[in-house]
Amino acid sequence: DRLRTLLQNMPKAELHIHIEGSLEPELIFALAQRNNVQLAYASVEALRDAYAFSDLQSFLDIYYAGASVLLTEQDFYDMTAAYLARAHADNVRHTEIFFDPQTHTARGVPFETVINGIWRACQDAPLSAELIMCFLRHLSEDDAIATLDESLPYRDKFIGVGLDSSEVGHPPEKFARVFERARNLGLRLVAHAGEEGPPAYIESALDVLKVERIDHGVRSLESPALVERLVREQMALTVCPLSNIKLRVFDVMGSHNLRTLLGAGLAVTVNSDDPAYFGGYVNENYFAAFDALPLDATHARQLARNSFQAAFIDPERKRAFL
Ligand code: ADE
Ligand code: ZN
Repeated sequence: DRLRTLLQNMPKAELHIHIEGSLEPELIFALAQRNNVQLAYASVEALRDAYAFSDLQSFLDIYYAGASVLLTEQDFYDMTAAYLARAHADNVRHTEIFFDPQTHTARGVPFETVINGIWRACQDAPLSAELIMCFLRHLSEDDAIATLDESLPYRDKFIGVGLDSSEVGHPPEKFARVFERARNLGLRLVAHAGEEGPPAYIESALDVLKVERIDHGVRSLESPALVERLVREQMALTVCPLSNIKLRVFDVMGSHNLRTLLGAGLAVTVNSDDPAYFGGYVNENYFAAFDALPLDATHARQLARNSFQAAFIDPERKRAFL
């Protein structure tokens, strides 16, 4: 219908996509074969059957296992090129891609292999693509600092840093020093907060880490004072509807709070998070939300506008999209 055509065709930015989460089961098997890596699953179907998650951690365990097939610069290039082609087909005009270097350096894959493969695919893409390096919050801050040090020779290949992995028990303030160093280096700052963690984590991401966007942030609604602040500051939330259902943040899409967040005046965007694991790329996220919730063409245009407004792109280019 007309709404679906609008959602499909409208130019949009994607601001919350983990490149390792775009690794499709077919590519996992192809890379395992190419690299002689032994997988714990007998077939693509058996692997896909394992994608039944009960919470964030149950997903992360499988997601890190899937990434173990990535060994060469070409592997990282192929994974990234496949995502960029899908994003382009969804009329994504600009994307800001998370990558998790520690997932790979901990296995002995050099930092330069990871970033060069991902970055080269971005250079060859039919849309603009920037990189945001994420620190794994289940590891120590010292490990994050070592990763930031390791990244410095490649400082021109990424625009910012983020914070992801297991949220509860690893509050933003654990990473105060590494974010301060990143800020002093002129890097843009984002963090996952309020996905499974409480509103207090969103507050400390803002106050301690000084982030410029909140990834997820859906639990902000539990604190009216926080919502008022996020609206006043027009702090963008990078919401990922299918992710939130697959990881049981909400039971069903009809219970998702996306419409309520928008109605409160929050700067909401729609994103795919880990599309190979959660059942769809960015347009599938729009479709699923608009099918289940009372959202119309005005909301669609608002969400697309928000995505460019919240993007780390130069003001001139931003205006052209708004
Ligand atoms: N890493 C990949 N996807 C993630 C998510 N949704 N939350 C936290 N860390 C992640
Ligand atoms: Zn995420």
